Amino acid sequence: MSKFKRTLITTALPYANGPIHIGHLAGVYVPADIYARYLRLKNEDVIMVGGSDEHGVPITLKAKNEGVTPQDVVDKFHGIIKKSFEDFGISFDVYSRTSAEIHHQTASEFFRKLYDEGKFVEKSNEQYYDQENKQFLADRYITGTCPKCSFEKAYGDQCESCGSSLSPTELINPVSTISGNKPVLKETKHWYLPLDQYEPWLKEWILEGHKEWKSNVYGQCKSWIDSGLLPRAVTRDLDWGVPVPVEDADGKVLYVWFDAPIGYISATKEFTSDWETYWKDPETRMLHFIGKDNIVFHCIIFPSMLKAEGTYNLPENVPANEFLNLENDKISTSRNWAVWLHEYLEEFPGKEDVLKYVLTANAPETKDNDFTWKDFQTRNNNELVAVLGNFVNRALVLTQKYYDGIVPEKGELNDADKATLAEIAKLKGEVEKSLNSFRIRESLKNAMDLARLGNKYLADEEPWKVVKTDAERVKTIMNICLQITANLTICLEPFLPFSMEKLRGFLNIEKMDWDKLGETDIISAGHKVNKPELLFEKIEDKVIEAQLQKLLDTKKANEMAEAKATPAKDNIEFDDFGKMDIRSGIVLECEKVAKTKKLLKLKVDTGIDQRTVVSGIAEFYNPEDLVGKQVSILVNLAPKKLRGIESQGMILCAENADGSLSIVSPDIEVKPGSEIK
Ligand code: 2FM
Ligand code: ZN
Repeated sequence: MSKFKRTLITTALPYANGPIHIGHLAGVYVPADIYARYLRLKNEDVIMVGGSDEHGVPITLKAKNEGVTPQDVVDKFHGIIKKSFEDFGISFDVYSRTSAEIHHQTASEFFRKLYDEGKFVEKSNEQYYDQENKQFLADRYITGTCPKCSFEKAYGDQCESCGSSLSPTELINPVSTISGNKPVLKETKHWYLPLDQYEPWLKEWILEGHKEWKSNVYGQCKSWIDSGLLPRAVTRDLDWGVPVPVEDADGKVLYVWFDAPIGYISATKEFTSDWETYWKDPETRMLHFIGKDNIVFHCIIFPSMLKAEGTYNLPENVPANEFLNLENDKISTSRNWAVWLHEYLEEFPGKEDVLKYVLTANAPETKDNDFTWKDFQTRNNNELVAVLGNFVNRALVLTQKYYDGIVPEKGELNDADKATLAEIAKLKGEVEKSLNSFRIRESLKNAMDLARLGNKYLADEEPWKVVKTDAERVKTIMNICLQITANLTICLEPFLPFSMEKLRGFLNIEKMDWDKLGETDIISAGHKVNKPELLFEKIEDKVIEAQLQKLLDTKKANEMAEAKATPAKDNIEFDDFGKMDIRSGIVLECEKVAKTKKLLKLKVDTGIDQRTVVSGIAEFYNPEDLVGKQVSILVNLAPKKLRGIESQGMILCAENADGSLSIVSPDIEVKPGSEIK
């Protein structure tokens, strides 16, 4: 019997500076959701909390780059993230955010208690300061030359050219990205959590007490602890975050990694006034679902904070996953190399479960894994359609055909029937065993084995043949098929919740508890099932090709953006430039040149005359949108025939990073014929 009465599941709070992608889902939210749904099906007391992580320097940087406030940035992405989670069916009991008042209050009180009890060490050191803007500079706000590779735009914490970790004072010629000035070193005071003091306790608690943690998690903890822990600053000089709640701390906020995990507590408070039961009662089991980059924060730093506070539970397990790559390349928000959840939901309506299935079947539990669109298609077509969908469809269609949808009575069982029923009964233990040890990918395989069993049973028993000779026998076969189908609605419910709801609709049954799984009489003879529809549909090649094309376009755009502008051409004399007669014109008529992809034929009023010009911009402009538009036209270019049309001049265009063309047009209305010099 477990010593726990309830479970608190926390899910890493995603930064609200971008939308959710498949890497987040595979690493954290899909496994957490499966586990929470499983416990709920077992009628256990469980809550799953989450929320957006809305503090930290990357958010302030993004705001600055876009000329908006940090609050604008987080409002936008919190909205997108929350909605996409809801639509995808991640079953948070509460999804909060760290800019919420309740969070500021909770994080502030937490810090203040540790401060009052003397749990922090106060230290001053010199950090870069921007004199013009009167502010200390976070590492990311300083750039300079990398001392290792001489790259000129290295950040204060890292050189993105050679990958070295840096500290701001190592940079040669440091520059504040806020003012462009050279920053000066100035003394500043911060509060540190003395992790070194917690080292002996962490050794005992993790290395001795939690040998059962996943080996990737345990291994990372061991390596951190073995290399010696140092005091960690838990405050920063920044104006975005939770203000440090002590006198003399103007312009300082809590370090984002100090306040973010406290966000789990704030979210629980938002959910229930009984929040302390979930955080402090030793009969509550706390689980942190995270990705591998968060291990140190959830296994070492946050537990040390909780230990210092003294009244909270510690995590019982931290089933962290490795990373998911996309088509053999690291997922990256800044390079737009990702499958974004909100886009998937728009492009694949009704296929939420397909993505959940693929991300679980290929979950990066023990090593980094790769998501490919081809694998997505194969798993959908060969597993969801051909195994699960095919079995339930045959079971339900044959029940309609032979019995008008009425579940037939079982007769005498033969050995094959008995063996099949025994397999169903055995399955519960297998799925539970893997789920209980967070081997979620294996548990999905175990659950799908039931559908495989069903297909095998049908193929072996061939009711469509037997019906011609032994109608009584077919009743038993179909009864057993329907028992398997009903069992599937239980064991696949945590993994494929939308599809199992649909399947229960076909079977005309209510949702059943996990405890019923394995029973071989859960759907009674005489019960009437409904006419089925298809549970899953095949995904065609062209759908996958479109997704691959989208990624190719991203790759191309990235390459163009990364490519340096080509060097300037050789100098020319002013007279050479003066030979060109460029005028402002207005497009009077425009049409596509027949049988070409790229060419438009335009009639332009140049102020001098009305003339015809052929231009290679058909891929970027609709002819009707160009009529009335101002253009810049080189009017003394020697005429040239293009596809039999004489082009009398050239429309000037700028080439964008992705190779597309934009017409260069005066930004105010000017008279046709005005010279452009
Ligand atoms: O790595 C991240 O995306 C962090 N925002 C996770 C925070 S988890 C927790 F501590 F809130
Ligand atoms: Zn470098």
